[in-house]
Amino acid sequence: MNPRLASLPTYLWGKYLQLVFSKVHVDLSPISLHIGEPKHAPPKVIRQALVDSLSGLRHYTNVKGSQELREAIASWLQQRFKLAHVNPDRQVLPVNGTREALFGIAQCVVDSRQPNPKVLIPNPFYEAYLCGAILAGGSPVYTNCLEATDFLPDFSSVSKQDWQDCQLLYICSPSNPCGTIIPRESMEMLIRYAERYDFIIASDECYSEIYGNEDTPPTGLLEAAWAMGLEDFKRCIVFHSLSKRSNVPGLRSGFVAGDAEIIQKFEKYRSYQGYTMPSYIQAASTIAWKDEKHVVKNRQLYREKFAVMKDILSPTLPVHIPPASFYLWLKTPIPDVDFTRQLYLQKHVMVIPGSYLAYRSEGINPGEGFIRLALVPELQQCVEAAYRIKNFIETGLTQRH
Ligand SMILES: Cc1ncc(COP(=O)(O)O)c(C=O)c1O
Repeated sequence: MNPRLASLPTYLWGKYLQLVFSKVHVDLSPISLHIGEPKHAPPKVIRQALVDSLSGLRHYTNVKGSQELREAIASWLQQRFKLAHVNPDRQVLPVNGTREALFGIAQCVVDSRQPNPKVLIPNPFYEAYLCGAILAGGSPVYTNCLEATDFLPDFSSVSKQDWQDCQLLYICSPSNPCGTIIPRESMEMLIRYAERYDFIIASDECYSEIYGNEDTPPTGLLEAAWAMGLEDFKRCIVFHSLSKRSNVPGLRSGFVAGDAEIIQKFEKYRSYQGYTMPSYIQAASTIAWKDEKHVVKNRQLYREKFAVMKDILSPTLPVHIPPASFYLWLKTPIPDVDFTRQLYLQKHVMVIPGSYLAYRSEGINPGEGFIRLALVPELQQCVEAAYRIKNFIETGLTQRH
């Protein structure tokens, strides 16, 4: 067996299910705020394109995907991030959801023969970064996202040695779970570090289309690189997904884009792995990347939910609406794991304890004392969840269960 498998942490959902295994004895229907699975209706145009293309079931596809899809992605990127040119043949690659690609990129770029191959990841983080890094033979270095740094990774805490050993840096902007956006200046600083210490930046931007202010969409890594004059996006690669943008997590469709040299290596890696996107998914994805109407509407639905949650929960539980994403990252009055379990047993509302989304680093688990709420159910369910949480805090809290 590959010994690196043994060093992987317990899978998040396995750990979570152990926490909420007991039967709930209250007569309340379950409300799921624990999984970041969008529940708004998938757009009709995407469903129709999928159905219309099912004849593709008879064919294999290749890793590169269709010209139409890559062109649709390139022109979406150009428009969204104000890039004068993205080459659809050399700088874009469709992937079957970003999770597999975020995991795969580490297998592709980490050179475990080098002494101390390090992979920098935010903390809290999305699981695929850590597991990808470990299986590729990299050593994770955590950058804590604390309240003191506005829940952004504290890059000033990274030692010179860690920067020198760094081969791959994952960033997540807007972030899961905090909903924070890495400012353009920080992205530019990271790009300069990548040049100086010769590492690759993998920017997970799968929440980039869910933001609060219609006039200030989050900056992307390619946008920052372009503004610095790096038209080849050297050492920069971004990950985008339709799952959250278009409410189609089951479609398994996203893309990576950026530095053509990395894209080429990744394409080679993926060819052997056999990661190809079925043609009917490519057809539906092409339509999705060309349509912005449903995305604008989607953002509005999340804004309404954030506002309602804040209205109901404050001041019982202070609510800070994040600039982007569909998550609330809330401080708990008792330890987050106890809060999660009691809330589940008493109110049948499922949330994720923050400490399960982070690792202890420099003596702190930055998720401790927080819970993550994914505002994915329909508005009425979010309202109901907010009232149950409020009532739970006001009447049901005990220190330990
Ligand atoms: C931060 C982050 N990145 C990537 C993903 C993967 O999304 P998908 O594989 O559906 O594109 C998720 C899913 O929840 C996520 O939260």
